[in-house]
Amino acid sequence: MEETAEKELSIYGEHLPMLVRIIEDMEKRIDLLRESMKQQRGMDPVEHCLSRIKSEESMREKCVRKGLAQTPESALFEIHDAIGFRIVCAFVSDVYMIRDYLAEAEDLEIVEEKDYIRNAKPNGYRSYHMILKTQTGYYLEIQLRTISMDTWAALEHHLKYKKTVSGNEQLIVRELKRCADELASTDVSMQTIRDMIFEEA
Ligand code: GTP
Ligand code: MG
Repeated sequence: MEETAEKELSIYGEHLPMLVRIIEDMEKRIDLLRESMKQQRGMDPVEHCLSRIKSEESMREKCVRKGLAQTPESALFEIHDAIGFRIVCAFVSDVYMIRDYLAEAEDLEIVEEKDYIRNAKPNGYRSYHMILKTQTGYYLEIQLRTISMDTWAALEHHLKYKKTVSGNEQLIVRELKRCADELASTDVSMQTIRDMIFEEA
């Protein structure tokens, strides 16, 4: 009985409704930007947007991995990705436009930024990461990326946990990196085409 009661207690404690509110607020903020860009440019900068509260299991696992107690304090204030947003954009310029839009928000503080687009990870991973802090003291992780970057990250994620035929590892790493770089090169070309179209408009 006791064990059941303990398991039913969320690692987010009483904070869960607040997290839901923060997600709703951010979704509204993004929708507003999308609407205003559609009006201004006739084009939606966002292909799709996902949000999530990190699952109980992943959050507990992360606490253990980081040597933290499995408490709401660790989950919400030591770890900064209890709330996660992934905003997938059409073009690289849209990623930076949305980054600037979020940076301008007076009620959100940027705690950390990682530009894995200008500085791709050695494996080829690209995305723009932001950790934002709300005025109420909660954190959000925002991942901004293009469709190409999202495609690569999804496929790489699938393959990451698969066992490889031994001896193949280096080849697989190299091929994944090559695909990432080819996709990045396509993003540059698509951006050029987009800019040509907008110049003429
Ligand atoms: P944490 O302690 O987990 O926050 O590590 P970190 O701050 O070093 O993580 P980072 O900001 O680099 O990445 C956080 C998230 O980005 C991950 O949970 C993934 O969703 C995504 N990510 C980062 N690197 C990769 C990668 O190589 N492949 C894929 N598919 N996703 C990645
Ligand atoms: Mg992180």
